[in-house]
Amino acid sequence: MIDVLLVGGGGREHAIAWKLKQSPRLGKLFIAPGNGGTRLVGENVPIGAMEFEKLANFAEEKKIGLTICTMDDPLVEGIVDFFQSRGLRIWGPSKAAAQLEGSKAFSKLFMQEAGIPTAEFGVFTEYEKALDYVRAKGAPIVVKASGLALGKGVTVCTSMQEAEAALEAIFVKKLFGDSGKQVVIEEFLDGPEISIHAISDGNTYTMFPPSQDHKRALDHDEGKNTGGMGVIAPLPFVDESLTEEIERTIVRPTFEALKKRGILFSGVLYPGLILSKKGPKVLEYNARFGDPETQVYMRLLKTDVLDICEACVDGTLADQPIEWLRGFAANIVLASGGYPDEYKKGVPIGGIEEAEKIDGIVVFHAGTTFDGELKTNGGRVLGVSAIGKTLKEALDTAYEAVEKIQFEGKQFRRDIGTRIFQI
Ligand code: AMP
Ligand code: GLY
Repeated sequence: MIDVLLVGGGGREHAIAWKLKQSPRLGKLFIAPGNGGTRLVGENVPIGAMEFEKLANFAEEKKIGLTICTMDDPLVEGIVDFFQSRGLRIWGPSKAAAQLEGSKAFSKLFMQEAGIPTAEFGVFTEYEKALDYVRAKGAPIVVKASGLALGKGVTVCTSMQEAEAALEAIFVKKLFGDSGKQVVIEEFLDGPEISIHAISDGNTYTMFPPSQDHKRALDHDEGKNTGGMGVIAPLPFVDESLTEEIERTIVRPTFEALKKRGILFSGVLYPGLILSKKGPKVLEYNARFGDPETQVYMRLLKTDVLDICEACVDGTLADQPIEWLRGFAANIVLASGGYPDEYKKGVPIGGIEEAEKIDGIVVFHAGTTFDGELKTNGGRVLGVSAIGKTLKEALDTAYEAVEKIQFEGKQFRRDIGTRIFQI
């Protein structure tokens, strides 16, 4: 038996906690800080994900056998290196490996050097030079603050005015602080966007089935960019030959180029891709599980997730089979009214039990809290997940359950996964 500390408190963490709970080898499960849902499968610990010292002290005191961190900020700030320097066992990539996500300038230059297909780009630290580049290239064009910006540092600009306003927001208004010190400006890529996940122990890797998140707030990919409003997996339009091409041109060369630089990547590498007319291209790298992608992966995963994480940490992933259910999973995000802009917190939530009575439904909590009553506590509140023999069945079941859940301002997309039926 092994006691586990899971760092984070989003829908992704509830999904991992839910899956860990099914492991026959799990002892105690602690989640720091957790949310209103993780308290149902483990014990929430009131320590923030960036409080490395407190987390490490807790892991020592409680004799935690494995800590798992799959949140971008702590990984980029080096939580794995910190734990390892204290002799504590932790799952996740090192600070050096997480740079792939932490700095878009680093990752673009990395891809350029390694010959990995990505949008044409320039990196700038000066406002005037960035403006000149944008004016020379014309719209549509994409402006990105280099550092982490909670998914808000990217502007897909369809006009010159938008591009100029995006640069002004970064360089003059300094809306993204240090994250905007470097700016990546890149070619607009057209095509379906998909998520790839490959888990690695530094020596070998295994790819998950491909998934598709829906990043915009509103139906038909309108409205602002969000953390992700819904996800499906696997993807009927990604066949074996496309999967092979993604592995050959993106996944394998990424791990090889990291190795060449002396960087061992242990954890999940999650490249976001656009399937462009000229083939799959990398939009960005993440050095962690996606959210809400994890919610569908944990529903489809047959293998014990604790076994997989331990194999990663121990460097024995080559001997660890990873098996998936046949069929499909869908996850619909229920967000607070107004998200990704201003929204209310502390709104009572009802109907989850009713929703979970429907066969195939599990509701994962993201921004929730429990103070005797379950209440909203964030932008993305819940993920309603379903599995089905077909994608349509999974989606229909998920949407049936969505209707059972109520909270004031409930906002969700009604078109998750529907684009597939038009391809
Ligand atoms: P990122 O944080 O880099 O993934 O960007 C956020 C979102 O902006 C992506 O999920 C895409 O939907 C969109 N995006 C980013 N870069 C591009 C690009 N070069 N072309 C088209 N869309 C993009
Ligand atoms: N699915 C969006 C993200 O995890 O970044």
